[in-house]
Amino acid sequence: MTNIFPKNFLWGASSSAFQIEGGWDEDGKGKTVADFNSFKKSAMQADSKVASDFYHHWKEDIDLMKELGLKTYRFSLSWARIIPDGDGEINRTGIDFYNKVIDYLIECNITPFVTLYHFDLPYALVEKYNGWESRDCAFAFERYAKVCFENFGDRVKYWQPHNEQNLMMRVKERMNIYVDDAYEVEKMRATMDYHMCLAHALATNACHGMIEDGKIGPSISATVTYPYSNKPEDVWAAKLNDNFKTNYLLDMHFNGEYPAYYMNYLRGLGIVPHMPEEDKEVLKNAKMDFIAFNYYRTLCARHIEATDENQRGSRGENEIDYDLYGYFKIEKNPNLKATEYGAQIDPIGMRIALNDYYRRYHLPLIITENGLGTADVLTEDERVHDDYRINYLRDHIDACRKGIEDGVELMGYCPWSVIDLLSSHQGFKKRYGFVYINREDHDFKDLRRIKKDSFFWYQNIIKSNGQDL
Ligand code: BG6
Repeated sequence: MTNIFPKNFLWGASSSAFQIEGGWDEDGKGKTVADFNSFKKSAMQADSKVASDFYHHWKEDIDLMKELGLKTYRFSLSWARIIPDGDGEINRTGIDFYNKVIDYLIECNITPFVTLYHFDLPYALVEKYNGWESRDCAFAFERYAKVCFENFGDRVKYWQPHNEQNLMMRVKERMNIYVDDAYEVEKMRATMDYHMCLAHALATNACHGMIEDGKIGPSISATVTYPYSNKPEDVWAAKLNDNFKTNYLLDMHFNGEYPAYYMNYLRGLGIVPHMPEEDKEVLKNAKMDFIAFNYYRTLCARHIEATDENQRGSRGENEIDYDLYGYFKIEKNPNLKATEYGAQIDPIGMRIALNDYYRRYHLPLIITENGLGTADVLTEDERVHDDYRINYLRDHIDACRKGIEDGVELMGYCPWSVIDLLSSHQGFKKRYGFVYINREDHDFKDLRRIKKDSFFWYQNIIKSNGQDL
């Protein structure tokens, strides 16, 4: 096999602050939406109070990253560790913590790839503004971004404003949407989504103005939807799902405005957010330098006949319902195997996403998440034989290779996750890491770090620059 991965390919791995750090209230950190949600579910699921305790193990963990051979580490900063109430005083201890992490990464020749916000909005902003429902939140984010660029921009050159804005929007508790009425939910989402787009643009412009050689781009959750059959209605349903779940947002980041079909949808429902004239220039100027995407699975859409019963809210007949009710439904794809949590494993879908995004935007791409979450078993001799994970990653790295052969400009690949961390849905029952963390949901044990078989496998992939696949 000829080696096709570029010499400077960013072999990496990923994490996020609330899922890895712990130290949830230490040294002045404020409470976040993610902490709050996990409190509510604490009877069922592990929470972010301790997570993988990276806050106290960061040096040991970065040593492991160095041993793994990582070229980049994609992680997020906790907004509430840096500005505890979101838009007030700056917490110097928080800045110092990230300075230590960044400096040590660089000392270990690992390029920091930093997300500003990964699901963990400072809770004070919810109390003050109902979070993203207010324009003020966008400006609070801009200020936070500037604080980060000022303090870390001399060493951090790769930035992402939000992780998976398009997916976050669909998870009510991440956005703190606690109304039941379907129309009100949709209206609130449209407003919050727009404010996050504005925040994204403000941060992008600030990065370009403040950081020499700074590169910034969105990190989206990739949606690749297949039609359930070759019926034209199913093909259309699949296109709608991709457009309304992902493409509308990439188009907004690329063009500085929503595409026509999305505006029609907002107008049809009467939920067009307030978009003042002065935002136009901000949005248009905010040019992405790359597109990062997270990829786990593909979906399959089946058209459903519209009836009086399956209309929601105040929607009239023939209005697009992209929310899976009434006009189409997401089905299992009988051609694919799924994980025990229902994610349909599909490396070809990743090749499709790579080709599709590159063809449409002609920007360098990077995969910032991809991985297999399951319950690993620690054997008596302290090993984790995770060949299922190795197979999953091998097939997806092979899809990257094929994507590069197809002509896609792929900068890097960062599996989720660098070490075991708190799964956003299933706590420590569902593990993704190259390193096992010795804890359970309700028993912190000794938090010992144990390298899995996949650690040694990935180490060799990196060493051979993908040649030993
Ligand atoms: C991504 C998120 O959508 O999926 C991560 O960016 C998350 O934060 C990952 O952990 C896997 O999902 P889960 O629910 O299995 O942890």
